[in-house]
Amino acid sequence: MSFNTLKPTIETLLSSPETAVKDKLTGVCELLQTTLPAYNWVGFYFANQAERTLHLEAFAGEPTDHTVIPFGKGICGQVAESNANFVVPDVKAQDNYIACSIHVKAEIVVPLFKNGKNIGQIDIDSHTPDPFSEEDERFLEWVNEKVAEIL
Ligand code: SME
Repeated sequence: MSFNTLKPTIETLLSSPETAVKDKLTGVCELLQTTLPAYNWVGFYFANQAERTLHLEAFAGEPTDHTVIPFGKGICGQVAESNANFVVPDVKAQDNYIACSIHVKAEIVVPLFKNGKNIGQIDIDSHTPDPFSEEDERFLEWVNEKVAEIL
């Protein structure tokens, strides 16, 4: 399944007038997790700026214990502070990493901006080593832009 094929489905999911935002986000997570073979876990975290914590709002894949992550901790917490994409081809090579499952080999986290402010992120875990390319980054940036429009 190519990214361009998925885009119209994502736009439809996000535009449904009857659906709550959280359910729309879960729908996007489920679509990506079920159609993209390297996307084994997909989640959206959103920031509580006062407490400097990230909170898991929606996901697809195995449930995780890491539903709250302090800024600076793990790949997600680092992206909350850096405002930049973080592509991890091999999670074992990372010192500041929070393991969610022994099966995870690689991860990508892309910040989500609303009015220029980093308010959250999409996080993908993969059981495949080094699966993410610049195409994934561009696609996930597009997903986050579309999500930002409904927030
Ligand atoms: N591995 C992440 C934690 C979140 S789980 O992948 C769901 C991290 O290091 O921030």
